[in-house]
Amino acid sequence: MGILDKHKKIETNATLLLALSFVVVAVGGVVEIAPLFYLENTIEDVEGVRPYSPLELAGREIYIREGCYNCHSQMIRPMRDEVERYGHYSLAAESRYDHPFQWGSKRTGPDLARVGGRYSDEWHYDHLISPQSVVPESVMPPYAFLADVDVDGARIADLMTTHRFVGVPYTDEMIENAQFDFIEQATDFGDGGVTDRYPGAQQRDFDGNPDVTEMDALIAYLQVLGTMVDFSTFTPDESR
Ligand code: HEC
Repeated sequence: MGILDKHKKIETNATLLLALSFVVVAVGGVVEIAPLFYLENTIEDVEGVRPYSPLELAGREIYIREGCYNCHSQMIRPMRDEVERYGHYSLAAESRYDHPFQWGSKRTGPDLARVGGRYSDEWHYDHLISPQSVVPESVMPPYAFLADVDVDGARIADLMTTHRFVGVPYTDEMIENAQFDFIEQATDFGDGGVTDRYPGAQQRDFDGNPDVTEMDALIAYLQVLGTMVDFSTFTPDESR
């Protein structure tokens, strides 16, 4: 019973209990916090993950402005029910250019981390104009006004400069061409610039209206979500 007697000593001495509790918590803290100092090692570089194009980035701003994150998460957890419903679990690298990240904490609606390519642009257009027109039981509010707001990308270069400041690798060339790329991606003039600078960027008129609107930007953003990594060739690096 020797060891239990010693434990009694700790339990009956408040100061000793406090001091030893602190030691235990400190060890736990170090184990959790220390790896963060080596974050470079914990984020895997994954092929295909690129900064958002100017139009996608503007769509992301609208997503944040409208509070879509209050009802939608963007993080597929590595559990079977989630993976079967939404697709491959989210990788840290897929959020690396998200400032702030849009993981969310509430799912009134489904997770959107891999919604890109799941529906047509027309579906998204109809759904955002009136969710109940395509999903009668939906409780999602309508966002029809987005189709009436023209955007010209006049301030998108500033936003990209801000993102560069916090670590997104936008090049000078990308920032110089920001407004051009912004318009180009939604009007489909067929110039290769956008896809050269943002490989895999989808270039077309997203809302069926020749003007560039907030609707174009938001649909461009939704259509890129979760599509940057090719999961038919992706293999996790198990050494990390
Ligand atoms: C009040 C909560 C709420 C808000 C706010 C909301 N949604 Fe939804 N959303 C839902 C619900 C519930 C569904 C499921 C029914 C449906 O498809 O309409 C849904 C479905 C969706 C879907 C289809 C997902 C799928 O896999 O079927 C998309 C895309 C979507 N929402 C985008 C958005 C965007 C973009 C915004 C912000 C402009 C937004 N939502 C704001 C509740 C919300």
